[in-house]
Amino acid sequence: MDKFLIKGPCQVKGTVNISGSKNASLPILAASILFDEPVEIKNLPNVRDIDTMLSLIKSLGFKLNRNKKKNSVKICKTNKINTFAPYSLVKTMRAGILVLGPLVAKFKKATTSLPGGCLIGARPVNFHLNALKKLGMNYKIVKGYIHASTKSNLIGKTIKFPIISVGATENAIMAACLATGKTTLKNCAIEPEIKNDLTSFLNKAGAKIKWTGKRTVEIKGVKSLKQVSYSIMGDRIECGTFCVAACISQGRLKINGFNPKLIKTELNLLKKIGAKIDINENEIFIKGPKKIKNIPLIKTKEYDGFPTDLQAQFMALLCKANGKSVISESIFENRFMHVAELRRLGAKILVKQNKATVFGSTNFQGAELMSSDLRASVALVLASLVANGMTTINRIYHLDRGYEKIEKKLAKIGVNIKRISK
Ligand code: EPZ
Repeated sequence: MDKFLIKGPCQVKGTVNISGSKNASLPILAASILFDEPVEIKNLPNVRDIDTMLSLIKSLGFKLNRNKKKNSVKICKTNKINTFAPYSLVKTMRAGILVLGPLVAKFKKATTSLPGGCLIGARPVNFHLNALKKLGMNYKIVKGYIHASTKSNLIGKTIKFPIISVGATENAIMAACLATGKTTLKNCAIEPEIKNDLTSFLNKAGAKIKWTGKRTVEIKGVKSLKQVSYSIMGDRIECGTFCVAACISQGRLKINGFNPKLIKTELNLLKKIGAKIDINENEIFIKGPKKIKNIPLIKTKEYDGFPTDLQAQFMALLCKANGKSVISESIFENRFMHVAELRRLGAKILVKQNKATVFGSTNFQGAELMSSDLRASVALVLASLVANGMTTINRIYHLDRGYEKIEKKLAKIGVNIKRISK
């Protein structure tokens, strides 16, 4: 298993190009199941979760023509489609559940593994199943598999989600595209990966998706979708991660390839800790403060609130702030796996249920660390940038799930980092 050796402290300086968004790519790749015509996706990040989703689509019988150098893939339907999504693939990448809605909408049946939980929570899929059931999908769960089918075409309905869910919103939107009649979805997740990218991708192919309210979307079912080529938006969480890298290390970065208007909440918070930030259409200029100010309380929320996927990264940053900060995690039940590892670097953090109190002014000392999940792992990388001495971060396969060439990007902006592959 690969590990990183990072020698701190350093100050990051230079330019970073943000890769395509993992969390926009995954539903868009799943949506390719809805097509009879070829689909071309560009600006696809070369990360492990994309590899897994493409393996899943290939295992369903689609023909893939992937060009990793050009970050693109062409997906073509064949006459040998099956509708079985195996546990072996879905267990390593929970977003595999996103093929359920498209398979049932297009092929009237699916047998997909339940994704199971992960370290950050139980991650149930009841909202996905309830919404698809309302559209006409019948299902039963047998030995960890969802056996789903529909006698005829799915039928458009009005559905209100009980809790805002990114994946359930995506599954329902994709299924509704080919349903008969109109579907209205209420209390939807409105992350840019959904409201901008997934919506634009499907509408470009002839779907009829219209956002009629902040969290309400109407989808008029169509008979089929036409051939489309689409370029994925920049990765919102990677962009936020590099903004934190500039702040934690008193560095200075020019960040290309992401629309800063989509992370107003995060940038305002970074200004509160003292960062200087200028923005252009697809550029962010960020200068980290000499003194990092604490934030009395940060609460993770659904978009456009502060994202849970940046919670760990901000915790690493606030370890360096003057004074105490409190982080409240309201989306997942167990997303403080990074706390124990930050403590190994010298952080003083108290955790009580879903609240973490971070006592700042930490003088990180390099240590041996263990990654646990994607975003916790990158928080350890951020802390090690400013730790005194060598830090080893084990099991960085977690990082490889969602950050493309991260050690190359970090080395280019002045970080002394090495990947050891065993
Ligand atoms: C998506 O996960 C993202 N993954 C996650 O990013 C992100 O943390 C999460 O949204 C929240 O923003 C992808 O986009 C691939 P949810 P998802 O459904 O769709 C509960 C990363 O690091 N829930 O919005 O699984 C659920 O347990 C990953 O890139 C149910 O109870 O998240 C959670 O507490 C990590 N039943 C809450 O809702 C359901 O049927 C929000 O989950 C579905 C969800």
